[in-house]
Amino acid sequence: MRTAIITGASSGLGRELAHQIARTFPEVECFWLIARREGRLRELSGELGARKIYSMSLDLCDEKSFETLAEQLREERPEITLLVNNAGCGYLGNVDETPLERQTTMTKLNVTALTAMTRLCLDYMPRGARILNISSIASFCPNPRLTVYSATKYYVSAYSRSLGVELKNRGITVTAVCPGPMATEFLEVGGITGNSPQFERLPYCDPKKVARGAVKAARAGRAVYTPTAFYKFYRLAAKVVPQRWMIKATGT
Ligand SMILES: NC(=O)c1ccc[n+]([C@@H]2O[C@H](COP(=O)([O-])OP(=O)(O)OC[C@H]3O[C@@H](n4cnc5c(N)ncnc54)[C@H](OP(=O)(O)O)[C@@H]3O)[C@@H](O)[C@H]2O)c1
Repeated sequence: MRTAIITGASSGLGRELAHQIARTFPEVECFWLIARREGRLRELSGELGARKIYSMSLDLCDEKSFETLAEQLREERPEITLLVNNAGCGYLGNVDETPLERQTTMTKLNVTALTAMTRLCLDYMPRGARILNISSIASFCPNPRLTVYSATKYYVSAYSRSLGVELKNRGITVTAVCPGPMATEFLEVGGITGNSPQFERLPYCDPKKVARGAVKAARAGRAVYTPTAFYKFYRLAAKVVPQRWMIKATGT
């Protein structure tokens, strides 16, 4: 059964991506929606129309979740035409002031879970399949006070780019999506709301528009998708301006 798997589908961008995929990938017959909040996933299932939906309440920071998923994959043997690695979090604060547990939560969710999900799903992905990895503008330039988050998103962008080359012969594409700030639960969860003058100054991206653009970019097999002209310019600037100047200009 042609299947889309989406992590972090219970809110924000993940939820918008699920709706967008349902609208623009009519060939997708089944959704696997993953996040911890089961009620939210069930709510979303009801909105996605007459498709087969598996809501999987999994904590992706817990490695046992990968065993559960591997078992489910072995049982169902889905034809995964779309994998969306969207679940992520970012805690604001200097490294020496942020509890270790928060820092490892970011590396577990943003890096380890994305890597594990991809490896597990690849065995079930046919030619023409698409992988969408949600990175961030934080992957363009190191962000003090979001040091760990920014480093995890560097990983996501670099991993996506390199994996895309490896998978070329299999006809599978990988797209890294690099949005700027979005008004989602991410800001509250990460303690960013009210604590970062930079976040208050930056232009916000609309998650609906980001989802639309991301799905279109995945269809086209693009390696990177950066929404809005402002952040496209920022990406370009990060390539040509010395990093120490960029860091000064973008301090969070
Ligand atoms: N918002 C921004 O400003 C912004 C900017 C650039 C990039 N991004 C990236 O966009 C992606 C989506 O974030 P968002 O803005 O939509 O934030 P969000 O609304 O907080 O969504 C995060 C999603 O991840 C899930 N999640 C969190 N911890 C999890 C865990 N341990 N196991 C399984 N699922 C977990 C959450 O579901 P549960 O809580 O139900 O588990 C939720 O569905 C992230 O990768 C983020 O880094 C966000």
